[in-house]
Amino acid sequence: MTQDEMKKAAAWAALEFVEEGTIVGVGTGSTVNHFIDALGSIKDDIKGAVSSSEASTDKLKALGIEVYELNDVAKLDVYVDGADEINAQNDMIKGGGAALTREKIVAAVADKFICIVDNTKHVETLGTFPLPVEVIPMARSYVARELLKLGGDPVYRQGVITDNGNVILDVHGLEINDAKQLEQQINQIVGVVTNGLFAERGADIVITGTPEGPKIVK
Ligand code: A5P
Repeated sequence: MTQDEMKKAAAWAALEFVEEGTIVGVGTGSTVNHFIDALGSIKDDIKGAVSSSEASTDKLKALGIEVYELNDVAKLDVYVDGADEINAQNDMIKGGGAALTREKIVAAVADKFICIVDNTKHVETLGTFPLPVEVIPMARSYVARELLKLGGDPVYRQGVITDNGNVILDVHGLEINDAKQLEQQINQIVGVVTNGLFAERGADIVITGTPEGPKIVK
């Protein structure tokens, strides 16, 4: 089974958590693209979606799924998204697709975060995947110097502008033992919009695509 087939299996298994007549929070990335296809197959049974990126919005709309503004939605039962790394505590690194800030906002509103991953995303210690940090452009060099002080090696993601008009620093070389603490510490640097650690708001349900089929842990 290929990695993409495992992503697809996890994504389609998430349909089990989508209630009829609801608005679904939708993340970003190649795993979520499979989930959007799955949502397309039940589009007449749901009210619509709130999206975490322009890319997901375009794909949802192309399938005829109504996309709502988050400000117009009082309640979201579920938010479904992928991850770049996830540990045994369900803390995650996200933002490989540069959509981390909107992802964190939509996730904060939802009752349940359902993380869909293939089995390569599980790690013992977070940090092998460089941690994305979204930064206001004029603060880039200052934030990079502050991240160096925290022991990381920030690399400017050349040519990438986020949906919010900001830039991304990818922080290499971190061994993350206290994800909640580091999440807060980085967010306190002036000029940081948010960072890709999802520990304050980790996953509630994890669906992992494996060669034996999707494995659901609640
Ligand atoms: C997007 O910004 C990310 O947070 C994605 O959720 C994450 O990078 C996982 O992406 P894939 O599903 O493409 O592996």
